[in-house]
Amino acid sequence: MVNSPDTPIGHRHLKITAPSPWVKRFAPLIPAGGRVLDLACGNGRHARYLIERGCFAVALDRDVSAVADLAPSPRAQVIEADLEDGGAWPLAGQRFDGIVVVNYLYRPLFPHLLDGLAEGGVLIYETFARGNEAFSRPRNPDHLLRSGELIDAVGGRLQIVAYEHGRIESGPLPGVIQRICAVNDRGRSARADGEPAPHRVEAGPD
Ligand SMILES: C[S@@+](CC[C@H](N)C(=O)[O-])C[C@H]1O[C@@H](n2cnc3c(N)ncnc32)[C@H](O)[C@@H]1O
Repeated sequence: MVNSPDTPIGHRHLKITAPSPWVKRFAPLIPAGGRVLDLACGNGRHARYLIERGCFAVALDRDVSAVADLAPSPRAQVIEADLEDGGAWPLAGQRFDGIVVVNYLYRPLFPHLLDGLAEGGVLIYETFARGNEAFSRPRNPDHLLRSGELIDAVGGRLQIVAYEHGRIESGPLPGVIQRICAVNDRGRSARADGEPAPHRVEAGPD
């Protein structure tokens, strides 16, 4: 299938194997050797990248055919689950040092993502936002973030390390995106004023 702006977004993703630059930039904040979740993982490009970095990755999608090769790995767990079928959260009681969600949005899951972060765990979330409909799919507002929505979703609980909202004009998926990196460490501080420690925001070497 040739990629075009009207190719279903899931199909376009299966061809993209490089991790998102946003995930690469903030993956170093995930505690070394941590347990991470790649939610709605598609071909598992982020699970694979994080495994390469020494993590154990849980790769979850409703269609796990593109991550079947990861199942035998001692550093991976593949879970097939439909996150929108009204059933229970499939990862109840589990905590992760990192949760990565890229180009998937189902708002009722936000509380589970926050509850699923271990102390010091890192949420890296990036997906399409309103305005994207002028460029390509997705165009359904259910799948497009409102301005500031990820800040509103996490700001009360997590330390927001970085946030962006705007147009991406190059790369395999041009469009309007919103992305956040936030850490579950607002409750821990070595300072009298209770401020959590700052994190490095520079991109590392490739
Ligand atoms: C646009 S792709 C993104 C894949 C991957 N996160 C990436 O960045 O390459 C969206 C993914 O969400 C998955 N997905 C969509 N609806 C889902 C649902 N109800 N439950 C679980 N996964 C779902 C699709 O199967 C697809 O793999």
